[in-house]
Amino acid sequence: MCGIVGYIGKEQSLPILLNGLKALEYRGYDSAGVAIGDKGTITIKKAVGQVKVLESSLATDHPIQGTIGIGHTRWATHGVPNELNAHPHSDCKGRIAVVHNGIIENYKELKTYLENHGHIFRSDTDTEIVPHLIEDFLNKRNNFDSALFDALKMIRGAYALVIMDAENPTTLYATKRSSPLVIGVGNNENFLASDPSALIGKTKDVIYLNDGEVATITSENISVVNIEQQKTSFEIVRLEWDLEQSQKGNFPHFMLKEIFEGPEVVRSTFRGRIKSEDNLVKLGGLDQVRDKLKDTKRILILACGTSYYAGLVGEYLFEEIAGIPTEVHFASEFRYREEPFDEGTIAIVISQSGETADTLAALHKAKEYGLMTLSVVNTVGSTIARESDAGVYNHAGPEIGVASTKSFLSQLTVLVMIAIYFSKDKSKTQLILEELEKIPEKIEKILAQSELLKKLAEKYNHYEHFLFLGRRYNYPVALEGALKLKEISYMHAEGYGAGEMKHGPIAMISPDFPTMAIVPHNSVSEKMMSNLEEIKARKGTLFAIATEGDTTIASLANDVFYIPKTIEPLEPLLTVVPLQLFAYYVGTQRGFDVDKPRNLAKSVTVE
Ligand code: M6R
Repeated sequence: MCGIVGYIGKEQSLPILLNGLKALEYRGYDSAGVAIGDKGTITIKKAVGQVKVLESSLATDHPIQGTIGIGHTRWATHGVPNELNAHPHSDCKGRIAVVHNGIIENYKELKTYLENHGHIFRSDTDTEIVPHLIEDFLNKRNNFDSALFDALKMIRGAYALVIMDAENPTTLYATKRSSPLVIGVGNNENFLASDPSALIGKTKDVIYLNDGEVATITSENISVVNIEQQKTSFEIVRLEWDLEQSQKGNFPHFMLKEIFEGPEVVRSTFRGRIKSEDNLVKLGGLDQVRDKLKDTKRILILACGTSYYAGLVGEYLFEEIAGIPTEVHFASEFRYREEPFDEGTIAIVISQSGETADTLAALHKAKEYGLMTLSVVNTVGSTIARESDAGVYNHAGPEIGVASTKSFLSQLTVLVMIAIYFSKDKSKTQLILEELEKIPEKIEKILAQSELLKKLAEKYNHYEHFLFLGRRYNYPVALEGALKLKEISYMHAEGYGAGEMKHGPIAMISPDFPTMAIVPHNSVSEKMMSNLEEIKARKGTLFAIATEGDTTIASLANDVFYIPKTIEPLEPLLTVVPLQLFAYYVGTQRGFDVDKPRNLAKSVTVE
């Protein structure tokens, strides 16, 4: 959840670290800090709040010089967000500095041991045991490398760690277990980051560290060993993201920019992968396992949050288009299942970041069951992408806004293509492909009406509750619309299948509890209309998302936003867009920083 950066080279490290931290701020923003090494000493500076607070406090102090440094932006797990708990953390003598993402599970017993051996702790964090533990081993045997490895062998849990030693001023040490960490390979300089987006504009060449590996990094050299200190090989991967994609451009927020990228994201997700004239889907990532997939009889989809809702749409797609029974599980719950899976069951994990701890744990569980695992991931080279048997990348480009928007569209697009890939009855799939090609233009039409949604948001932004209703393909969209609104505007919002409304939520309906009804013209719209009548009969306020040309809805709903017509399986690609924009406008009108909603982090790397 937190962000890590590191630099070693010939440049002053502070500006590089601050820029990297700003790029990572979407991962956590309670507090931030840097440690800079120079002439055998390490200077640590920290501040509570966003990176800009740290930056301005540094601007008033003497600039810290040094061409080696590490930085961190924090999302608190152990200990409140304050300066003492902010990273980097240090040992008693101030020789070692450490930044950490994840949770050290056995920190309590290690802390007790260290305190009994005279170590003085300054913070409430689990992280602080790391520099003290290394120091403890150094006190016994003055060899930094062996102290580091002895310490690493004692800690349990999930971590990405970057470590500096004042007495080795030309070296950074990095290691990870179940928490992402990449090395950016430069020219006479090297970088470290918990997320490759912090490296954009610096280098496109990265090395993804594997669990248990320890890297020793100087400006000219990178060596990687396992915990037994045996050399391991590594691969340098080229990233295709560019600087422009990671900047806001003329948009006030990343979230708005990313919603407006929707049409291009859908195009780039299907580009080169579909040929509607030949009724063909080609997914290169699945080629190597094509034969094994032929006998797929059942699909499990495992994901969290927005990716889980994309999975719920996938369930309808796989069953209708491919005729394969499908179930979707919260990744965080899947691990508790003890179900015997028949041969022919496969698992598809969906994750924008490719690093979500719960999803990764579910992937591991699926592997324990002996299932073939596929992934739908946006971040190239991420842990889930590497650890699954095969997969399909989203090609959505970096998503910086904490609220997932464009990645949802690209996930839906990938799931449509996978459903067609699995389909044995090709009689319906050509029409779906032809229609998929028209979706970007239809999203553009919706985006062109953004001013209308802004005005409608003004009318609704004072409410404290919102119900979102949909049926069939639009039931998951109702869940996603409610999630977007609550995480961005802090308005209480609930998503329901419209048929479920009368089994409980209808008790809440009143003029002060408006309903967002997703009611495009389709096979279930008549049933939706009956549910909306029930709301109207109880004086509920209704805002409807409906199909252009629908003449009946306006007499029922207080407000209607019209979207272009498409076929039912592709509706979520259109219906979600006004809900994303609505959440954006309500959130900004209520005065919130929608790119950094409170308590959230982009990539949830703790379970
Ligand atoms: O990176 P992932 O897709 O695995 O993330 C899963 C959820 O944390 C994520 O979708 C979250 O719900 C959204 N950012 C909310 O907008």
